[in-house]
Formats: sequence, structure tokens, C-alpha cells
Amino acid sequence: HMQTVGKLMKVFVTRRIPQEGMKILSAGGVCEVSLWDSDEPVPRADLLKGVQGAHGLLCLLSDRIDAEVLGAAGPNLKVISTLSAGFDHLALDEIKKRGIRVGYTPDVLTDATAELTVALLLATARRLPEGLEEVKNGGWSSWKPLWLCGYGLSGSTVGVIGLGRIGVAIARRLMPFGVNRLLYSGRTAKAYAAEVNGEFVPLDTLLSESDFIVVSCSLTPETQELCDKAFFSKMKNTAVFVNSSRGAVVNQEDLYEALNNGQIAAAGLDVTTPEPLPINHPLLTLKNCVVLPHIGSATHSTRGIMGALSAQNLVAGLQGTDMPNELTF
Ligand code: NDP
Ligand code: DGY
Repeated sequence: HMQTVGKLMKVFVTRRIPQEGMKILSAGGVCEVSLWDSDEPVPRADLLKGVQGAHGLLCLLSDRIDAEVLGAAGPNLKVISTLSAGFDHLALDEIKKRGIRVGYTPDVLTDATAELTVALLLATARRLPEGLEEVKNGGWSSWKPLWLCGYGLSGSTVGVIGLGRIGVAIARRLMPFGVNRLLYSGRTAKAYAAEVNGEFVPLDTLLSESDFIVVSCSLTPETQELCDKAFFSKMKNTAVFVNSSRGAVVNQEDLYEALNNGQIAAAGLDVTTPEPLPINHPLLTLKNCVVLPHIGSATHSTRGIMGALSAQNLVAGLQGTDMPNELTF
């Protein structure tokens, strides 16, 4: 037994993760797990301490994994597994330099995230949070012809920015609502867009013609603050903006202005900068802005599967075998 223990590889897990994942890490005598045993993020200093000498790191999107963390971990580190589909929190250039493999969890959260994005779009366009508030505060005096009107999907034009795995899953779910045209923009046209009758158009065309704009691209230097004053100024005054990608794709000051001065009709955000959004943030004073706490993938089963997949990726990385989902970069 002692000999086995001596060979165990050291793994640092930056948060409590679903049992499905912990079970895999504990099985098979591959690794010795050191867990930041909390539902709250590991403070930076504890992350830097926790990774020391680790062979594997299982992290979340709230952990910035940069040269400092990699340096603190030292030369043992051979695999980083993130419990997320997004990987903008990982300094991939630094990771590559050190020959470290990366695992992530795409696909398994696509349905849950697309569902949530549709829910957010409908809640925003049909003003559900405002309605709920009026019911509770006595603002509901009667059925009123001109009250709480919003915008419907039937006959509309929807624009998807970044028709990737989640983007096309959103489009697939929106089409049955009677969407008339589905536009999308990105770096390249996609063959699979045919399934949703997607038309690949320049961003400016998407902005000026869409009634609903859904952002589902990854956060990259190119998409950082893509949605700024110029972007919103090209949208229709009646258009609804929805973002379930990453908060930093949006310039929030410019979004606030666009919502406040009627440049656009409403916005639904599942992601913000920072997260959490401070409760005194100007966006939270607006009735036409619906903000959710980054819950795109938050179904019981999806999170369990993400936990298991992140653990499988980590173990495979430690053993030098094929990962179920390895990031190629
Ligand atoms: P994919 O890689 O499948 O899709 C990303 C898309 O972004 C690609 O289609 C890509 O299109 C597009 N893109 C890249 N650069 C640009 C650009 N400059 N302009 C427009 N589009 C661009 O990833 P997923 O669909 O699986 O996930 C997308 C993102 O969603 C993740 O990166 C993550 O940040 C976020 N996410 C959020 C969740 C939540 O809880 N809210 C849950 C899961 C993911 P192209 O190939 O043409 O460049
Ligand atoms: C991701 O996976 O990138 C999401 O933001 C959380 O599930």
C-alpha cells in the first residue's frame, strides 16, 4: 500500500465539484486529490500554494491559469482539466510552451446552455421579470391593451453571432417559433447551417436586419468588446440583444447607454464582467435588462456529466492516454 501511495500523482481541484467527478478521481489509485473544499472560489494565494508540485490541475472558469500559476505548480504539471467549455481563462500560449495538455467539457452542456439561452431570450423579449414584479407589487390593476407589450419570435429575423455548437443548438430551438430568417456571422460559413436555413452574412448586415441578436461565440482578442457603441448603434431600436457567451464580449457601459436611451429594446445577459455583477451596477437599475448569474449549463444532470468528463480528462492526461475531450491548440 505504501508503495502505491508513493506513486500516486498529485492533483489539485480548485472547488467542490459534482460527486460524479470526485468518484472518478478517487478510483483506480491514480491520483492523490487535494481539494479546495468550498463552493466559493479559491483565493489566489491558496491556488498558488495548492498547485505546488501538482501533476494535474482541475479548475473552473473563475480560476485564471496564467504563467504565475504554472510557475507555482512547477515542472510536474502535465495536465490541466477545466470544468467548462470555454477556455478564455487559460493562458494557452504559456501552457503550450510548457507542453501541458488541456481537457475541457464541450458538447455535454450544449443542450442545457441552448435551452437556458432560449428561456432568457423569451423572458427578455416578453418582459417576464417585469411582469412577475408587477404581480407582486400591486402594479397589476387590470388587463390593459397597452401594458407590458414586448416582441415575439414569429415572423422575425434572428441573428446568431458565432454559430458554433451552442449557437446552432439555439438556432435549432428557435426555428419552430416561426422565425422567418436566421442570419449568422463569424469567421467562416458552416455547412451545418443549412439545417437551420442559416444565411452567413457580414456582421453589419446581421446587426441592421435582426430583431433578435444572440451572442454565442467564444471570447477571443477578436471578440473582446465586439458589442460596443458602434455595434449597438447599428441595431434596430426594437431589437433584443442576448448574450450567453462571455461577459467581456460586451462593453457594458455602451450597452447601458444603448438600453437607457432606447437605441435597442432590451438585453438578456447570462454572463457579465465582472462575475458576480456588483449589485449597485447601473445595468441592474434598468427594467429592460435581464441579468442571470451564469447558469447556462446549470441542470443537475449536465453538471454531473461535466464533473465526470473533467475527471476523465484529468485522469487520461495523467496516464498519458487519449482524453475524451482534449483541447487542441
Ligand atoms: P464553439 O467553439 O463550438 O463555438 C464558438 C463559435 O464562436 C464558433 O462557431 C466560432 O465561429 C465563433 N467565433 C469565433 N470567433 C468569432 C468572431 N470573431 N466572430 C464571430 N464568431 C466567432 O463553442 P461552444 O458553442 O461550445 O461554446 C461557445 C462559448 O459559449 C464558449 O466559448 C463559452 O464561452 C460559452 N459558454 C457559456 C455557457 C454559459 O453558461 N452561459 C455554457 C457553455 C459555454 P468561427 O468558427 O466562424 O470562428
Ligand atoms: C462554460 O462551460 O464555458 C460555461 O460558461 C459554464 O458551463
